[in-house]
Amino acid sequence: MPRNFLDVDDLTPAELIEVLDLAADIKAGYQAGEADRRYPNDTLAMVFEKPSTRTRVSFETGMTQLGGHAIFLGPNDIQLSRGEPIKDTARAIARYADVIMARLFDHDDAEEMAEYATVPVINGLTDDAHPCQTLADLLTIREHFGGFDRSVAWVGDGNNVAQSFVVGAAMAGLDLTVATPEGYGIDDDVLDRAREFGGEPTVTNDPEEAVEDARVVYTDVWVSMGEEDERDQKLGAFDGFQVDADLLGDRKFMHCLPAHRGDEVTDEVMESDDAIVWDQAENRLHAQKGLLAWLAEQ
Ligand code: CP
Ligand code: NVA
Repeated sequence: MPRNFLDVDDLTPAELIEVLDLAADIKAGYQAGEADRRYPNDTLAMVFEKPSTRTRVSFETGMTQLGGHAIFLGPNDIQLSRGEPIKDTARAIARYADVIMARLFDHDDAEEMAEYATVPVINGLTDDAHPCQTLADLLTIREHFGGFDRSVAWVGDGNNVAQSFVVGAAMAGLDLTVATPEGYGIDDDVLDRAREFGGEPTVTNDPEEAVEDARVVYTDVWVSMGEEDERDQKLGAFDGFQVDADLLGDRKFMHCLPAHRGDEVTDEVMESDDAIVWDQAENRLHAQKGLLAWLAEQ
């Protein structure tokens, strides 16, 4: 059976560190001009039901840099949009491609794709999880602070990005506090999964309390892809959760991007020297190359 990466805890904590170490090695080599071309002639099929800037470009360029090739399959490009079942799509694509990366709405669809594909399936974001983002986040935190002995505050929606980060933070040993409005918290089963790794994220509805001991403040959009109809309701619920210069203080700021200035973050914070969002975005490339390289070794 191929190894899949549908959420961070498809890896063990030791494997997570192996992937991050591989990513760091490949990044250092690439920056020194030594390309690591361990995927010669291999093809990554990229299935997208939702838009993307970072995930699409980082996977496609990453696969090129590894010596392989990536095919972009957008919502209107394949028969999935005309009703071909996920399981048939998965079995057909797996007969051509060596790895599949999929950005889907329903997490169950990603699981079905992995069940039927005979090659590794990587989750490029579902409504429930964004594990590739967590890999890049952990790589970025380790680069900036030299390890995971730090406190991080999540302020905002307890969404896909937050949920994978909660589990990944527990696996890495980060101290995490999560502040969400009532009704938008982290799912109980995700908190249970974090506890399996000894993590006990502090959960609050108070952003000020969440950032008190933190060195990093992390947020995401208030209205995720597919939630456009909930926009008015969510903007009301998230009043008071904007990361502005006062809330940030002298902490570092993280955001998975795209950012909505004026909603979850101010332009001042996004443009400040404390924003490490571009390092995070760049590390999507390096982290995913580490993941692809690790999967090739399994
Ligand atoms: N952070 C992230 O996944 O960005 P995209 O939606 O642009 O891929
Ligand atoms: N929570 C956001 C993340 C985008 C990368 C969304 O799902 O739209």
